[in-house]
Amino acid sequence: MLVRHLCGVLPFSGLWLGVLLATSAFAAVQVTVPASGPSTNVTVVYSNFLGVSFELSFINYYFGNDTNTVPEPVVQYLNALHERGSNQSVRLRLGGNSMDSSTYVPNQPDIVEFTDPTANSNDQPVNYGQQLFQVMNAMSDKVGGAEYLIGLSLRDPNSTNVPLLAGDAQHFLGDKLDAMLLGNEPDLYTGHGERPNLANYTTNDYIGDYWEVFGELGKTPQGDVLSLDKIAGPTICCDWDLASLLQSGWLDQFSDRLKYITLQHYPQDNCGPTHKYELDFYLHHANAVSLAQWQNDGLDIIRQEPSATRKPILMDEFSSASCGGLPGISDTFGVAMWSVDYALQLASVGYSGAYLHTREPGVTYNLFDAPPAVAAGAGAWTTNPPFYAYLPTSEALQATNGSRVFDLNVQNSSSDATQSVAGYGIYDATSNTPHHLVLFNFANATGASTEFTIPASLIGSGTSVTLGLRFLTAPNVNEKYNIAWGNLTWAGVGDGVPVTATGSYVQSDQNVPCAQGCSISVPGPAVAVVYLGGFNTQAASSSTSNSSDAVPSSTSDSNTQQADGASMGVPAVGLTTLLSIVAMVFALTL
Ligand SMILES: *[C@@H]1O[C@H](CO)[C@@H](O)[C@H](O)[C@H]1NC(C)=O
Ligand SMILES: *[C@@H]1O[C@H](CO)[C@@H](O)[C@H](O)[C@H]1NC(C)=O
Ligand SMILES: *[C@@H]1O[C@H](CO)[C@@H](O)[C@H](O)[C@H]1NC(C)=O
Ligand SMILES: *[C@@H]1O[C@H](CO)[C@@H](O)[C@H](O)[C@H]1NC(C)=O
Ligand SMILES: *[C@@H]1O[C@H](CO)[C@@H](O)[C@H](O)[C@H]1NC(C)=O
Ligand SMILES: *[C@@H]1O[C@H](CO)[C@@H](O)[C@H](O)[C@H]1NC(C)=O
Ligand SMILES: *[C@@H]1O[C@H](CO)[C@@H](O)[C@H](O)[C@H]1NC(C)=O
Ligand SMILES: *[C@@H]1O[C@H](CO)[C@@H](O)[C@H](O)[C@H]1NC(C)=O
Ligand SMILES: *[C@@H]1O[C@H](CO)[C@@H](O)[C@H](O)[C@H]1NC(C)=O
Ligand SMILES: *[C@@H]1O[C@H](CO)[C@@H](O)[C@H](O)[C@H]1NC(C)=O
Repeated sequence: MLVRHLCGVLPFSGLWLGVLLATSAFAAVQVTVPASGPSTNVTVVYSNFLGVSFELSFINYYFGNDTNTVPEPVVQYLNALHERGSNQSVRLRLGGNSMDSSTYVPNQPDIVEFTDPTANSNDQPVNYGQQLFQVMNAMSDKVGGAEYLIGLSLRDPNSTNVPLLAGDAQHFLGDKLDAMLLGNEPDLYTGHGERPNLANYTTNDYIGDYWEVFGELGKTPQGDVLSLDKIAGPTICCDWDLASLLQSGWLDQFSDRLKYITLQHYPQDNCGPTHKYELDFYLHHANAVSLAQWQNDGLDIIRQEPSATRKPILMDEFSSASCGGLPGISDTFGVAMWSVDYALQLASVGYSGAYLHTREPGVTYNLFDAPPAVAAGAGAWTTNPPFYAYLPTSEALQATNGSRVFDLNVQNSSSDATQSVAGYGIYDATSNTPHHLVLFNFANATGASTEFTIPASLIGSGTSVTLGLRFLTAPNVNEKYNIAWGNLTWAGVGDGVPVTATGSYVQSDQNVPCAQGCSISVPGPAVAVVYLGGFNTQAASSSTSNSSDAVPSSTSDSNTQQADGASMGVPAVGLTTLLSIVAMVFALTL
């Protein structure tokens, strides 16, 4: 067993604590948890919390031109999410400015065709055909289940194309169609010149437009899609106040048909020559906490609804900086850590899901990049830092009952922006039992570890007193490629299948005795996921040895399938990769 007592983990006894305090320049970070657990109104979230948002115009790079050219690496990436997703569908969204400006052409054979060579790079319209639904279904089948958000344009509320799309989307996708986002960033319509006849496109105009489109959605060529209650909005990003909009009549008038309240918001943009924040902004938890307070008054209106009628809130598009991200910021390990922190923060304040955005190849915040080839062409893919955020987030949220996420405010980090640590407790949805902790050390330079002391009270009096520890690590916060989740990395692989990571920055899984409490050493920079009760046995499955096989792995149940003892810390994909190699060798020798 790779329990590294000296440099990794110290049993928390008085003697060791004394040594620790005497030899460490910094006091240990006390992890304290409320005896009563988080309040019962905290939104229940699942391990598919973090979804992927794709810009429509470039969807064939990621999903293929047709069902025969679905890129296998993308299947592998999304499978890695599904494997860790407690058998929940992978959350995917197709939309963006380009879905607001594009036209559905049912009889067009090609999946997408660009229609405006002079378009702004942040809004490139296409015509798209039914092939889109075929590849969406194919992708879902290949990854063990996907649920889709799609955009419906509100740029012309009288458009006959919108009901046509809505009807066909429901017809072809069925239950895989989670919701339709009516209008993309309508609060920017005035700024983007979308309503040239109006000096200002107001929320009253917007409500009028909703009525217009709702009327048509009740009678599309494929029938009534309105009464499926799959509409989502307002998908504002920037200029409108959510509370005012909700109280202007929009929520009352459309509530019956609304499935989600949707927002998309970035901390800053790269639309002009200057930007607000450098990488350091993302490395202080208090900034993530403040950012998640955006539209807090409006969120309060939703949160105060009784849980039976409360609309789930989705951050349906976000990343580190809009307009394509910022090089040296959006493509760094620091932002991967931030993405985990911010996702969990959103969960803790009432969001039910959040979707990191990905655009055309080369955009700095992309999760992964297609090879330098034509869309759906062959070649090696590149894995970018934000992709790694999915691994700790989804594993930490694994629980059959769902989870409630609680910011532990370690070292006052929620408000003290000088702190470089953070911590969350992930609790069962229905009991006050925490099942994971997520600890952050944003310090930039491997070796500068921080000790987090875990109280015995947190461990409970159960039989299993061994914690499992898995780390997301990189040599420093600026790193782009050498990133490891446990001992797995996607660095240097072109096929989306992780390999064993090497390098001094890599931290193998650890099993930590913690009956009397213990101290956990988190290197800087790293995110640690603590499996209270030890690693579970989920995810060891041969299903991904053939990723067109939709049978999911025997996932989830971190609470019912705990390993007894310390020997079960097998990262999911490590074993499946091994099995897939075995399967391939087998196939080749037949
Ligand atoms: C996983 O989900 C699929 C689709 O919802 C379902 O058919 C299947 O039975 C589930 N598998 C397990 C092991 O729960
Ligand atoms: C949509 O049509 C209605 C009449 O049905 C008209 O009053 C309205 O101005 C039109 N809206 C736009 C944006 O063209
Ligand atoms: C434009 O409309 C929005 C939304 O109704 C409102 O918040 C804003 O104050 C208006 N702007 C002007 C200049 O009237
Ligand atoms: C839970 O309720 C408290 C008190 O009413 C409120 O401040 C908090 O925002 C609520 N949290 C969520 C996530 O709904
Ligand atoms: C996919 O379609 C695009 C646009 O029509 C085309 O340029 C590209 O060559 C196609 N890819 C493949 C692999 O055929
Ligand atoms: C956290 O803040 C409180 C006051 O709000 C202070 O008493 C305490 O010492 C602070 N703790 C740390 C670790 O900074
Ligand atoms: C899951 O929910 C069930 C039913 O409410 C409860 O009995 C069980 O204790 C919960 N599981 C955990 C790990 O708390
Ligand atoms: C982090 O450390 C690396 C290696 O020492 C250094 O190159 C980089 O500038 C540091 N980054 C920040 C944001 O301080
Ligand atoms: C994967 O499974 C499908 C369906 O069972 C089969 O057609 C295909 O040949 C398999 N691929 C590999 C690489 O085993
Ligand atoms: C990777 O980590 C797992 C779990 O700790 C361990 O069982 C396995 O041996 C490791 N693989 C390598 C190549 O070190």
